[in-house]
Amino acid sequence: MPRFHSAKLLSRRQWSDDLCSITLDKILDFAPGQFVNLAAARGSTAAFRPYSLASAPGENCEFLITRVEGGALSPSLFELKVGDELGLETTPEGLFQLRFVPAVPEMWFLSTGSGLGPFVSMIRDPATWEKFERIIMVHGVRQHEQLAYLSSDFDAVPRGALTWIPVLSRERNPIFLNGRIPALIESGSLEKTAGISFEEKRCHIMICGNPEMIKDTTAVLKAKGLRKHRQRKPGHWSTEKYW
Ligand SMILES: Cc1cc2nc3c(=O)[nH]c(=O)nc-3n(C[C@H](O)[C@H](O)[C@H](O)COP(=O)(O)OP(=O)(O)OC[C@H]3O[C@@H](n4cnc5c(N)ncnc54)[C@H](O)[C@@H]3O)c2cc1C
Ligand SMILES: NC(=O)c1ccc[n+]([C@@H]2O[C@H](COP(=O)([O-])OP(=O)(O)OC[C@H]3O[C@@H](n4cnc5c(N)ncnc54)[C@H](OP(=O)(O)O)[C@@H]3O)[C@@H](O)[C@H]2O)c1
Repeated sequence: MPRFHSAKLLSRRQWSDDLCSITLDKILDFAPGQFVNLAAARGSTAAFRPYSLASAPGENCEFLITRVEGGALSPSLFELKVGDELGLETTPEGLFQLRFVPAVPEMWFLSTGSGLGPFVSMIRDPATWEKFERIIMVHGVRQHEQLAYLSSDFDAVPRGALTWIPVLSRERNPIFLNGRIPALIESGSLEKTAGISFEEKRCHIMICGNPEMIKDTTAVLKAKGLRKHRQRKPGHWSTEKYW
């Protein structure tokens, strides 16, 4: 059972009915990519679930959260008002961190839904930009209403170093790529949009969100000759499944 401390909601950004970012009044010592448990209340019987930090280290804790209809915890996080209290575990966990991946010129961040959160934390951290020359941020959602964050949220990004590619699966929209991430890799559309390819010696790929997306994406990357990254046998992709 994790130990929870009381935190207060400082602010909320509502991106759509089912997607929001919340900021709490606490600062934690963590590395981008790590997660902590949140609880609706501090009591031992309250539901708790892990959430990835989306803030930069040293800033107030921020989380990007999807409402799962009928879920035990996430709907109640959407009910919180500014000043309300919730339970925050203060010991971050998780190995989905940049210090465990090779330094390469081109980093690809592939996400669906709230799986964008840990990558937001990473690009907010100036240390990230000492390790990679270019980052391609791919965010897959159903419709454009579920896209989150604005370029003005990212002061730490060097000019021209970040390419943000939204992907919509259930809306035909000429401004964005349409379809699912694995199919867009297979067809070459994603590489064409980014203007670079998945080159074995130049890239690493971090993938976060829907486990089926992760399964299908890694299968396509494997077919391209890339392999899973392990500390003992360096490879090309690292993953974080949300369920
Ligand atoms: C390491 C880790 C980090 C996570 N970080 C985040 C985060 O930053 N933001 C976030 O919104 N969620 C995150 N999650 C998911 C989160 O922990 C909960 O599972 C989610 O909020 C649902 O909890 P619930 O009690 O409302 O639903 P439950 O009653 O627990 O229902 C769970 C079901 O909801 C679905 N589900 C779970 N998470 C999601 C999701 N994000 N999007 C769509 N469907 C989902 C799955 O079908 C799952 O079986 C993370 C999970 C893990 C393991
Ligand atoms: N009420 C609503 O209108 C509404 C709307 C959105 C979300 N929600 C709630 O939010 C929850 C989460 O929804 P979400 O949209 O954030 O998460 P999601 O269902 O994981 O979908 C996010 C993105 O992942 C894609 N995806 C799913 N499986 C994939 C695979 N195997 N390979 C590649 N891509 C894949 C989806 O494409 P596809 O579209 O092709 O599946 C979508 O673009 C839902 O359970 C629901 O409770 C409700």
